[in-house]
Formats: sequence, structure tokens, C-alpha cells
Amino acid sequence: MNAPTKITPQWIRDAKKRGERLPTLTAYDYPTAKLLDESGIPLLLVGDSLGMVMLGYPDTTEVTMEDILHHTRAVARAKTNALVVSDLPIHSYDTPELAVANAKRLVAAGAEAVKLEGGAQRIAQVNAIIAAGIPMFGHLGMLPQAVREEGGYKIKGRVAEERERLLSDAKALEKAGAFAIVLELVLPEVAAEISRSISIPTIGIGSGPDCDGEIMVVHDLLGTFPWFRPKFVKEKNELGEAIRTAARAYASRVKQS
Ligand code: KIV
Repeated sequence: MNAPTKITPQWIRDAKKRGERLPTLTAYDYPTAKLLDESGIPLLLVGDSLGMVMLGYPDTTEVTMEDILHHTRAVARAKTNALVVSDLPIHSYDTPELAVANAKRLVAAGAEAVKLEGGAQRIAQVNAIIAAGIPMFGHLGMLPQAVREEGGYKIKGRVAEERERLLSDAKALEKAGAFAIVLELVLPEVAAEISRSISIPTIGIGSGPDCDGEIMVVHDLLGTFPWFRPKFVKEKNELGEAIRTAARAYASRVKQS
């Protein structure tokens, strides 16, 4: 089925029934959102990964609501057909009330849905956001906002207890009404089992080939953050090198003229 002119959370949810896989990318600014939209990417995430690739922080734990609001407004100005989802940053959803208030701020800035990290332990926040009429994208597995407590980015689902928790968290998010779930760094066989066990799409990152879609940080796809690229990224585009080449050629022309 061809994509409709405007992608909705329901269209994303139904992609699984249609057997249509979901290529998803992050976007943090107007031109990138417009280019990705013109390329037919149906789902764009204003992720808190912007902390690293746009703002130069070591991880996502310093990202604020103001940061996400600023980038959400820029992406929203691109008026994409793609559905625009914005991340609720760390501590912006510590209580259900705070979660709803901040989700509403993101919607006012142009987000069409929000994402937060966690399953059963965040279900009160998820329920409150959905009850407020705001579509919710889940996020399970390695939770980057907890990277400091976890001591690094570690694969999830290796031990039985973790696998069971991931499965029950995914079912809890589905039951609460999330329209899709990111599975980050989940052991591929566990990601496959979760994907078979729920009716909403799973969007994997570093979680093997059997999720219903994939998500990638756009800088990793393009090679514009060449100082670090996760091992699971298959594409080897080098736009960072193209930028260096263009800047050197420009500098040399100016110096010589
Ligand atoms: O912040 C982000 O970009 C994300 C995705 C990579 C899943 O949460």
C-alpha cells in the first residue's frame, strides 16, 4: 500500500498488519527533516540523541526540555508527511502529571506523538499521556537515559529474567495503547520473539533483522558524526568527509584568489 499524504500513528500501527517494514530516522533540523521526508521516510524522531550529535554532550542525560522544544519547532516547520515524534528528555516525565504537561509542550511545538523510555515502571506516565489524547511511542531494551547507572550501552535480554521483563513490558505498552515500540540493543532472538508476540510494530536499533522496522540516528547513516559510529550501522556513507573536502577546497580557493 502506498503511504498516505500524511502519516498518522494509526498508519504506523497498521503497517505491521500490512507487512510493511518501517524505515525510521532521527531528524533535528528543518532541512534534514525536509530531505528525509522527500525521500519517503514515514517516521521521524526528534530524539534526545541530539544531545550527542548536535550539542556535543557525552550522552543524553544533559538534554533539557528546552533543547527538544527548540529542535522540534525546527523539524515541525518542514511540515512533513512523515509523522514527527519527539523524545521526552530525562526527568521530564518523573511523575504522570509532569509527563502530561511536558508532552503537551512538545505537541504545542509541533510534535505529533511523544516517546519515553521504560515499560511497566513508567506505565502510569504512558497511561496519563494517552488519556490526554497524545499518541505514544514506547522505548525498551537499553535505555540511554540510564546509561550512567548501567555503566555503558549493554545488550539486553541475555538472561531469562531480563527477557521475561522485556516481553511483559512490551505487552504492557501495547495494552496501554502505544502505537509502536523502539527496541534498542535487544538480543536479536529476543527482539524477534517480542515482535511475534505483540500486534504493534517494533522498531529496532542494534536489535537484529526481525523487528518490524529499524531506526537510526541520521548522522550514523550519513557519516556526519564520523568520530563514533555504532558497529551495527551497515551503511558506510561518508558525508563528513565530503564536508571536509568541500571546506578544504573552499579555503584553498579563498587563500589563492
Ligand atoms: O534519541 C534517539 O535518537 C533514540 C533512538 C536512537 C531510538 O531514542
